Amino acid sequence: MANIQIRKYQDEDSEAVKELFTSGMNEHLPSSFMHVMKQPLTQMLLMCTFCSLMASSKSFLLPVLAVTLLLAGVRQMIAYMFNKHIEASLKNDLNNIGETYLNREDSCFWVAESDGQVVGTVACLPAEDAPEFLELKRMSVCRSHRGMGIAKALCRTVADFTLDRGYPAVILYTSMVATDAQKLYEHMGYKKIRQFLLPEFFAKIINFTLIEYRLNLEEEK
Ligand SMILES: CC(C)(COP(=O)(O)OP(=O)(O)OC[C@H]1O[C@@H](n2cnc3c(N)ncnc32)[C@H](O)[C@@H]1OP(=O)(O)O)[C@@H](O)C(=O)NCCC(=O)NCCS
Repeated sequence: MANIQIRKYQDEDSEAVKELFTSGMNEHLPSSFMHVMKQPLTQMLLMCTFCSLMASSKSFLLPVLAVTLLLAGVRQMIAYMFNKHIEASLKNDLNNIGETYLNREDSCFWVAESDGQVVGTVACLPAEDAPEFLELKRMSVCRSHRGMGIAKALCRTVADFTLDRGYPAVILYTSMVATDAQKLYEHMGYKKIRQFLLPEFFAKIINFTLIEYRLNLEEEK
C-alpha cells in the first residue's frame, strides 16, 4: 500500500468518485449477461424460438436472426437495469456527498488517493431498514490499483468508524454477480445473512439476487 492514503472526501473529488462508481458498476454487465444465459427459462425461450421458427419457415436464417435479436434484447434489458441504478445513485447520494455523508455524525465518505489521483471509494451511513447498524456503501477500486489491499484498507476504515460510533455491526448489500466483492467481504470476516430477489419485474424473471452481509463487531473486540 505504498503511496496510498485514505482520507475524507472533498468536493473536488466529485467527478472522480462518480466515474469510479459508474465504471465499477458497469464491470458487472458481462457477468450478469452470463448469469441470464445460464437460466433454464432463458435457454428454453431461445430453444423454443429457434425450433418453432425453424419448423415453420424451413429456413436457417430466420431462427438465427430471431435468436440474435433476442440476445441483443436481453443485453439491452440488463444494461437498462444497471443504468437505472447508476443514474439513481448519481442523482441521489453521489450528487451531494457532503450533505448525505459528511454533515451527519454517524456517516462518512472516504477516498483512497495515490499520487494525487482518487483510486478508491467507500462510504457508510445508518442502514435504512436497520438503523441500529451502519451500512457500508460505494466500495470501488480503480482497475489499475486492484490487488494492492486498497479495498481491505477501506473495509477496515469503515469497521473502525463503526466501532468508534458505538454500533455493533456493519451490514452491506452486494449482487450475486459481484464475485470479487463477495471474496473481499468474506475475507474481511463478513458473514452472509440472506439472499433475496430484487423487486423489479425483470430482475425477478432473470433470478437476479442481492446478498446481505454482516460484520459483527462485538465478536471482533
Ligand atoms: C471488489 C473490489 C473493491 C476489490 O478491490 P481490491 O482493492 O482489488 O481488493 P484488495 O486488493 O483489497 O483485496 C482484498 C481481498 O479481496 C479478495 N479479492 C479481491 N479481488 C479478488 C479477485 N479478483 N480474485 C480473488 N479474490 C479477490 C481477496 O481475498 C483479497 O485478499 P488477498 O489479496 O489477501 O487474497 C474491486 O474489485 C472493485 O472495485 N470491483 C468493482 C466494483 C465492485 O464490485 N464493488 C463492490 C460493490 S458491493
